[in-house]
Amino acid sequence: MQIINARLRHQSALHTLEISNGLFASITEQNMELDAQGKQLDAGGKLLCAPFVEPHIHLDAALTAGEPSWNRSGTLFEGIERWGERKPLLNEADIRRRVLQTVELLVQNGVQHIRTHADISDPSLVGLKTLCDIRDELKERIEIQVVAFPQDGLLSFPNGLALMEQALEYGADVVGGIPHFEYTRELGEKSMKTVIELALKYDRLVDVHCDEIDDPNSRFLEVLACEALFNDLGPRVTASHTTAMHSYDNAYCSKLFRLLKNSGINFISCPTESIHLQGRFDSYPKRRGLTRVKELNEAGINVCFGEDSIFDPWYSLGNGKLLRTLDFGLHICQMMGYQEFSQALDLITDNSARTLNIQHHYGIEVGKPGSFILLDGEDDYSVLRNQGEVLLSVRRGEVIMHREPARVTTANWIDR
Ligand code: FE2
Repeated sequence: MQIINARLRHQSALHTLEISNGLFASITEQNMELDAQGKQLDAGGKLLCAPFVEPHIHLDAALTAGEPSWNRSGTLFEGIERWGERKPLLNEADIRRRVLQTVELLVQNGVQHIRTHADISDPSLVGLKTLCDIRDELKERIEIQVVAFPQDGLLSFPNGLALMEQALEYGADVVGGIPHFEYTRELGEKSMKTVIELALKYDRLVDVHCDEIDDPNSRFLEVLACEALFNDLGPRVTASHTTAMHSYDNAYCSKLFRLLKNSGINFISCPTESIHLQGRFDSYPKRRGLTRVKELNEAGINVCFGEDSIFDPWYSLGNGKLLRTLDFGLHICQMMGYQEFSQALDLITDNSARTLNIQHHYGIEVGKPGSFILLDGEDDYSVLRNQGEVLLSVRRGEVIMHREPARVTTANWIDR
């Protein structure tokens, strides 16, 4: 496959790219003597970039909002309660139908890599097993990582630890945790040490729902980061949400950032979810409840955005469009400067790939898999400003999604 007239990120010249045997064989500035006989794909000056990465979503819970009842308070904790009512109704066919529908929605919006959480607070582990099976079945078409996520606690839920080990033995890629939901601070801290021990024992990645609460005293992040540092695991460890950091005082945060930077751990923020679930116990002023994305980014700490939910007990909107998540995130985190706009796509592409530890086979580089998306825009800024659609998604040289841009005609109602 040869792609002509492609615009690459942060480069003004148009480029020609060749994909051979599923890999990028060459990437060169536009050559006027193009071989018109070859099989060419004309990018038409649009932005060609690495595929979107969804680093944090709960596919097992997707498309269940309102079943059997709605989350009326809008809190994280009522979400967990409502999900607890839905859980007994889970079976493989139900999960499979919803997961495939949601994955297709993500693919239609340019996603080629997904990290999904699977609730293992369920003795049958049906969600975890179904997600691992679907991951294996779809591996030629999309890359999925499955996190064994102890929704009701790793150490507080009966047999939580045994279920985690069963999930890892079944093939979960990532060890999860939820320290702020354990019964006590001691159990929360112990769970962070246990998560790191399990990652070492089973040679897996780590992604913890960490301090997803407005409580400024929820400080499990420092335990996770310290354990990651001392065990030399930093880049393989991710702290998701860390919304309590929004409420930490600045003096503590200043001290904390030294550890975070030294540890090399990754961060995922889910802006639409957190702005919705956090601040629910405030009157006014109401906290935004997002982690300090702008400050983490400026400190050189890896941070990215995810959706978290699509129509589930925690969040009843969501449409698979990471550009929408990015738009929300930049607004809420006040990352609205020109420089931030011009690098905005990092937050849903390169940074997310680093979080998933897939950077060795991700990106627009010769020798890497010939996978990319084509966006309706010329650069990060214009794609963001116009919410440019994903026009094309190519995986290892094969087109997996193609979209015809909408044509809109306006009657000539203004004299120009
Ligand atoms: Fe989550």
